[in-house]
Amino acid sequence: MTLGTPLSGNATKALLLGSGELGKELAISLQRYGVEVIAVDRYENAPAHQVAHRSYVIDMTDAEAVKMLIALEQPHFIIPEIEAIATTALAEIEAEGLCTVVPNARAIQLTMNREGIRTLVAQQLKLPTSAYAFAESFEELLAAVEAGIGYPCFIKPTMSSSGKGQSMVKNPEQLKAAWDYAKASGRVDTGKVIVEAKIDFDFEITLLTVRALDADKVIQTYFCAPIGHRQENGDYRESWQPQIMSAASLALSQDIAFKVTQEIGGLGLFGVELFIQGDQVWFSEVSPRPHDTGMVTMVTQKQNEFELHARAILGLPVNTALQQAGASAVILGGVDAMAVSYEGLAQALTVPDSEVRLFGKPEAFTHRRMGVALASADNVDEAKNNAIKAASYVVVKA
Ligand SMILES: Nc1ncnc2c1ncn2[C@@H]1O[C@H](COP(=O)(O)OP(=O)(O)OP(=O)(O)O)[C@@H](O)[C@H]1O
Ligand SMILES: [Mg+2]
Repeated sequence: MTLGTPLSGNATKALLLGSGELGKELAISLQRYGVEVIAVDRYENAPAHQVAHRSYVIDMTDAEAVKMLIALEQPHFIIPEIEAIATTALAEIEAEGLCTVVPNARAIQLTMNREGIRTLVAQQLKLPTSAYAFAESFEELLAAVEAGIGYPCFIKPTMSSSGKGQSMVKNPEQLKAAWDYAKASGRVDTGKVIVEAKIDFDFEITLLTVRALDADKVIQTYFCAPIGHRQENGDYRESWQPQIMSAASLALSQDIAFKVTQEIGGLGLFGVELFIQGDQVWFSEVSPRPHDTGMVTMVTQKQNEFELHARAILGLPVNTALQQAGASAVILGGVDAMAVSYEGLAQALTVPDSEVRLFGKPEAFTHRRMGVALASADNVDEAKNNAIKAASYVVVKA
């Protein structure tokens, strides 16, 4: 495609819906190609706001507000970074044919609701997932668990992310509390929860999968090396790349990721979450955008996940090759406070081959991700230790 000059009449414009740390890196990647970046979030001075050409604060779940802003800015690309968006507005805008929703409006609709993507993958594509059921009342939930899902199982609101409203239930006594918690903390009350049998996995991975044009302008699917990660309370704490796995489980993982992303369609990078046990693989969920665990690629790949997403969207060729082993470890707020300060950065950066990203979020919460430490090394274990060490030196102060 032809690219224009930012802030001029022929600018190529991208509007980010969601301006967190992933949006910030994506904005930087897009700007390296001279794309005019407009960053939108629900609060002021969000990370991507701070590096974009222009920024807005709107309620992104308000369809009218989203449509008004798009009519005003007339972007070429609308790039959702979060799931809590008025997706019907995106479908209307896409239907008008004036701009590209990345990767497409259906993908955003399907993945914002666990029911959409799970039903598609398990029933239509017939790919392996945990046993699951949806429930609209506590009685339905209890019946589904007793009818075969069993214990332990996970209860999740159908619309939520980052582990919100999610709990693992080990016995019938815990079920009611999990139901109440899921009902109370879903992002949008769809009135529904999903219950999933617990998969006893050896490890879980994110398989970053890119749909991009090749030299002949044909869409190809490319895979990054698998990323392993550790989750705590439904949020990631450390990730590393490559995750060592058997050839058979990697081939199965790529096959699942290929089928899911092909069904979703469009151009861009996807984070396909998979559970692995021996040579068996289960699909868990997919993000049609860069993935938080994929921040590790900032030190492991020549083209990190943000660069890959930017290139794919713009119709440019990609290279997903791994350069070296690496790891990431998150830096949590640890306090609830505005305008925090950061200490220990100099010490963190004495760790060999380490880097630190501070996201610049205006407000810290105890469990809010405020930054990430990255480290590359000869092997994953050393990288992991170094990333954790670097992260531990950074102290967030109220
Ligand atoms: N059925 C399951 N079996 C085993 N572990 C599970 C299951 N469902 C969820 N988990 C664990 O909980 C984590 C979070 O689950 P999931 O990805 O569904 O939630 P999420 O809220 O979408 O999180 P995020 O937005 O951070 O990806 C998983 O990465 C996994 O570690
Ligand atoms: Mg997940």
